[in-house]
Amino acid sequence: MKLIVDRKNRKYVIHDKEFHTEKGVIPEEDIVNAKVGDVLETHLGKKYTVIEPNINDYIELMKRKCSIILPQDLGLVTGFTGIGYGSKIVESGTGAGSSLLFFANIVGPEGHVSSYEIREDFVEIIKENIEGTDFNNITLHHKDVTEGFEEEDHSVDLVFIDLPKPSEVIEDSYRILKTGGFIAVYTPYIEQFQIVSKVLAKTGFKHIAIREGNVREIEMKNNKTRPNSRMAGHTGYITFARKL
Ligand SMILES: C[S@@+](CC[C@H](N)C(=O)[O-])C[C@H]1O[C@@H](n2cnc3c(N)ncnc32)[C@H](O)[C@@H]1O
Repeated sequence: MKLIVDRKNRKYVIHDKEFHTEKGVIPEEDIVNAKVGDVLETHLGKKYTVIEPNINDYIELMKRKCSIILPQDLGLVTGFTGIGYGSKIVESGTGAGSSLLFFANIVGPEGHVSSYEIREDFVEIIKENIEGTDFNNITLHHKDVTEGFEEEDHSVDLVFIDLPKPSEVIEDSYRILKTGGFIAVYTPYIEQFQIVSKVLAKTGFKHIAIREGNVREIEMKNNKTRPNSRMAGHTGYITFARKL
């Protein structure tokens, strides 16, 4: 896959045909011969640089029919759980596959990500999104995750939960986690993490901590530098806990 990107970070996937932008047309010949690093120009003089998409570009542009976990929250999960190359991760629900693909990229070919999604229409989209990558470290389960994870006891480094009723899978998460492994539960609402943290404690999890991944974009202008006044104020809360 090849992308073109402009100075304002607008990105488009290009296929081997003429490309129409809001600022003119790039001829088919230029698109077909485009190599990473080339700068393509429309007939109106607007310039785009050709790049290979990284994981964030890919997730941003892939198909989705639900809200997805954003990079700031995925960064928080990665930073506070210490997952990395070779880690084994289980997650649910898969949604569009944003968290799934982000984790697959982090754990690499020596690691593995197993993901559970109940909705058939979403599973079709996720399969398409996985096929657009070259990851071979993913297992997708079309299944109601409350029926139980298929992983063995004590086999997983991280369980990541993004479900409407996360409490229903906490006990089974404890079963599959290695001692020292983490659970991270994403919830948009305070009332949800209040329930989650109680169930985590009752199940035997330790080091329970709730964190938010708010990012403040800073607008840079001549003598008027300040946080952007129109940024998103909230994504969600992430409740972390450890099996000890
Ligand atoms: C907000 S979306 C997940 C987004 C995903 N983490 C991402 O980053 O793309 C929540 C998903 O949970 C799925 N879901 C809800 N209940 C489920 C269950 N019992 N078993 C499996 N998946 C479930 C929904 O169908 C939905 O796709």
